[in-house]
Amino acid sequence: MLASLIRNSKHTIVFTGAGMSTESGLPDFRSANSGLWEQEDPSRVASTEALNQNVEQFFRFYRHRVLGVQDCKPHAGHFILADWERKGLIQGVITQNVDGFHTDAGTVNSMELHGTLQKVHCQTCGKVYGNDRYSEEQYYCPCGGTLRPSVVLFGEMLPENTFAKALHEAEKCELFIVLGSSLTVTPANQFPLLAKEQGAKLVIVNREPTLFDHYADLVIHDTDIGVVLAQADQELREDL
Ligand code: APR
Repeated sequence: MLASLIRNSKHTIVFTGAGMSTESGLPDFRSANSGLWEQEDPSRVASTEALNQNVEQFFRFYRHRVLGVQDCKPHAGHFILADWERKGLIQGVITQNVDGFHTDAGTVNSMELHGTLQKVHCQTCGKVYGNDRYSEEQYYCPCGGTLRPSVVLFGEMLPENTFAKALHEAEKCELFIVLGSSLTVTPANQFPLLAKEQGAKLVIVNREPTLFDHYADLVIHDTDIGVVLAQADQELREDL
């Protein structure tokens, strides 16, 4: 059914969360037992307070995540999405993920709502560096400022231009496909709702139920994202 929905849509947007990258080896945040927020309190390690008040714990937490992103890579599902964009089957990916894997796999229109772990920047002068600064435990800029990952921390605004672009895409799409998100964090979780409200069909592929399942036209809980994408890709190839 997913393949036929994609086939019949002229403007399709994919929306991904951490569940898109677990098959690359990165933990998500809220899966029972394995989610990052099962081990760490986000407000103590991923917030502006953490950066300003317990910076050593902040550095340790984000160095661990930078090493994770450096050790892992996009999986077949990321490459399928990039291929579908090239074929005009989808028009872009709105992602909450900060691993940069959609871009690495070749997706051109990747809207990173929560920024990226691929770069760090100086709190004081704004200079941007590669994330190797963190893997090499270099946490300060020559200007003396603190280096921080270019991700959106709890308590911060989302990047305006990216948000506006994602809004525009959600408003005009005919099909909105959620892959691997618990849809618990605002404002990102408003995009599926917005798409649905303006008339798009909504698909949610997620191991666990989400609060938005009852809005969806298709919900897939029992199959991992990588398999769902491979099966849909197989069906779409049979068309060509
Ligand atoms: N296939 C399908 N679903 C999966 C898979 C998989 N291979 N792996 C994990 N999931 C599902 C989990 O069941 C979970 O419900 O993906 C979902 C991931 O949800 P979260 O861990 O809450 O991640 P996400 O929704 O992206 O979190 C949003 O919260 O902490 C902030 O900034 C962080 O961007 C993140 C935001």
